[in-house]
Amino acid sequence: MTKVGLLGLGAYVPERVMTNDEWAEYVDTSHEWIVSRTGIERRRIAAEDQTTVDLAVEAARSAMADADVSPADIDEIIVATDTPEVFLPDTAAFLQDRLGVGQVPCYDLAGSGCAGFVLALDVARSRVIANDGRVLVVGVELLTRLLNWHDRNTCVLFGDAAGAAVVGRGEDVVEIVGTLAGTDGSKSDILALEAGGTRLPFSEEIAAKGLHKDLVMHGREVFREAVSHMTECSLQVLEEAGLTIDDVDLVVPHQANLRILNAVGNRLGVPAEKVYINVQEYGNTGSASVPLALWEAREKGRISIGDLVLLCAFGAGFHWSAMLLRF
Ligand SMILES: CC(C)(COP(=O)(O)OP(=O)(O)OC[C@H]1O[C@@H](n2cnc3c(N)ncnc32)[C@H](O)[C@@H]1OP(=O)(O)O)[C@@H](O)C(=O)NCCC(=O)NCCS
Repeated sequence: MTKVGLLGLGAYVPERVMTNDEWAEYVDTSHEWIVSRTGIERRRIAAEDQTTVDLAVEAARSAMADADVSPADIDEIIVATDTPEVFLPDTAAFLQDRLGVGQVPCYDLAGSGCAGFVLALDVARSRVIANDGRVLVVGVELLTRLLNWHDRNTCVLFGDAAGAAVVGRGEDVVEIVGTLAGTDGSKSDILALEAGGTRLPFSEEIAAKGLHKDLVMHGREVFREAVSHMTECSLQVLEEAGLTIDDVDLVVPHQANLRILNAVGNRLGVPAEKVYINVQEYGNTGSASVPLALWEAREKGRISIGDLVLLCAFGAGFHWSAMLLRF
């Protein structure tokens, strides 16, 4: 049996860099506060004429080039995003058209927050095991477009980016050797964007109050949950694969916050140099964060052939996901 895994990786970040000092023009904050609480120093902001699919197209093309496949070789597309191109249809439909991929199944994995990409990779793996072929998986967020730029509790945390992978079979793939995902829906109100659905349909009043851009986030509770679930799902995926944390060469976690990443690294008992961190450059880019970090780690030579890489992510829902990759 040939292995199932990643044939290629890609990423894209918009050109415009926004510093912490610039946020002080919109809200009562400072570079010192943001760095001390989050580690974030800057983030990328999409240009006014860019939309979600523009970012997704760039990351997808980069991953397809890396995998040496053309649009005709793609048999399915999954887009993980909470900031879609439009409300209906899904971003995957726009992406298929823009890339010139055939009339294959294309769908979004929406609402799973920052855990979305790793979960989508897991779905892609199952689809390849069932059907063969190649699945293009994209994690993309244009979070700065949909969030309230006057809520200092949330606006400073996020950034825009896209990352992508092509999943398929082969002898030379980056093999997926373990995967795990979970959900605790009882905590869905702790990190949520509530307006616009059937519970709170979009209205003039909602728009006037700006509620459609208000992310509800109980920061301290999210922090605690993120640390414990990212740690637990990492240890569990290793145990199920018959491996231990000592076998891991690099941890590539969802880049939520430097303090969260340090706490996860400490609880896992891995030295700091084994945890890949780029949150200082891009902020929290939601479902784009793991593929962007994985791609960057590989580009910077932090991953060698034969390395075992652990991905772990956590997001609204709460959802969590982990994956083991053998390069
Ligand atoms: C949001 C977070 C950075 C806040 O840090 P914290 O250490 O918990 O902050 P505290 O609760 O001690 O302090 C909050 C205070 O800082 C203030 N504050 C919040 N954002 C601020 C900002 N950007 N600048 C300055 N002050 C800010 C609050 O208004 C509050 O002030 P108050 O005490 O007068 O009400 C932290 O809770 C966190 O990282 N949570 C997880 C968020 C996350 O990762 N979400 C995505 C998950 S995928």
